[in-house]
Amino acid sequence: MDKSSLRKIILNKRNLLSSNYIENSSKIIFEKIEKLVEFKKANSIFIYLSFGSEVITDYFINDYIDKKDIFVPKIVGDDMKLVRITRNTNFSKNKFGILEPNNDDFYDGIVDLVITPSLVFDKSGYRLGYGKGYYDKYFSLNKYKYSIGVCFNEIIVSKVPREYHDVKVNRLVTESLDKVFKNFVVTTSVKITDDLREKAQSIATYFDIDYLERKKLTIKEILKLYENVLVVYKDNIIFIDNDNNKLFFHLDTAMIRIKNNNEPLIEIISEKEQSILDLTMGLARDSIVLSYYGHNVTSLEENEIIYFLVKDGLENFSSGINEIDKALRKIKVYNINNLTFLKECEDNSYDVVYADPMFDIKIKESTNLSTLEKLASQDRISEELFAEMTRVARKKVIIKAHNLDPVFDKFNLIKYKRAGAKFSFGILEL
Ligand SMILES: C[S@@+](CC[C@H](N)C(=O)[O-])C[C@H]1O[C@@H](n2cnc3c(N)ncnc32)[C@H](O)[C@@H]1O
Repeated sequence: MDKSSLRKIILNKRNLLSSNYIENSSKIIFEKIEKLVEFKKANSIFIYLSFGSEVITDYFINDYIDKKDIFVPKIVGDDMKLVRITRNTNFSKNKFGILEPNNDDFYDGIVDLVITPSLVFDKSGYRLGYGKGYYDKYFSLNKYKYSIGVCFNEIIVSKVPREYHDVKVNRLVTESLDKVFKNFVVTTSVKITDDLREKAQSIATYFDIDYLERKKLTIKEILKLYENVLVVYKDNIIFIDNDNNKLFFHLDTAMIRIKNNNEPLIEIISEKEQSILDLTMGLARDSIVLSYYGHNVTSLEENEIIYFLVKDGLENFSSGINEIDKALRKIKVYNINNLTFLKECEDNSYDVVYADPMFDIKIKESTNLSTLEKLASQDRISEELFAEMTRVARKKVIIKAHNLDPVFDKFNLIKYKRAGAKFSFGILEL
């Protein structure tokens, strides 16, 4: 069925839903959204002002207008612009009869969360809009961290007609469904063996994503169809994003640090065979160095792709040096938010609790960083996290940060002096 026939059918069906069903389902949908970590973390939310038989957003906006930065759409010519609203904002109806703010303080920055309307969504997270393409254009031209599509379960369809530029939402929430969609596909190197195909297929099952038979497709061709791709090679797995940035497990600076043999972290920890909780694994360079020097390291990573690549590397990478491979294999890793993990820990359960969050002040270090930066959780050290770190650590809390980072003063950390280095370690002895 073509898009315009489907639009008519769905709109008719949606207009026949009872107001009771619409009210109740809308309430349930937003109660679910309020519980999501992506919502809790979001400071800025781009949401629509509901119209006709759409999922109702009024109560939700009213509840959060003073607590978060709420942006709504305003149609200007062929474009949809974002305008921040407050309790003092005045609204008028636009040419479609939809309310819009009167002011023109447009915002074109990144938003943390987009709550997306639709005529309908399909079960794979693709949306059918009203045919003007405003949201398609928004999604392809703007940066946002997470998108949630909202829709009534009664009208959801199995597949809406798709075009190559259509972007699916990260998550679809209805009154009885909460489905997360991954925006990447897994394939193999062009040179394929049965083992590689099997590994790629099992990764597809693990992430619940498509497996794509590589044939002779170039990465460029694959990236026209999918936002990102995970490529399984004989000795490595590489994540490639739409800007052709690559992320993969490698030893790079960890190897250099081990060879240099003057590691500040080892000097700071000073005692041997300590149990160390690394709250921010990333590419696990710190964890590897610590493990190599005989410490027992448990490492946490919230992002599932970073976690997966690094876990695979720690289990399978072969450096050619026995002691290093042993150090990789004995690191314990968990794919979890560090605050959630800490809350489950007993008091004093690790000798050292260590964190190396993403820096606010950027240091250009390696080409790999930009992909890591895009995927990485951007959590900083909150008062709550710090309190948990000090509760769970027996001897020391250590935080790595840029020299100019306010974290050192905020938590009264002793700065470990390092000549010429742009970042330092802040230490709290317990
Ligand atoms: C700067 S990197 C860490 C680099 C790492 N120390 C290394 O040596 O490779 C920070 C990492 O912590 C992760 N992260 C940030 N906030 C987190 C959280 N709340 N829970 C778990 N991981 C988190 C990010 O996704 C990112 O991969």
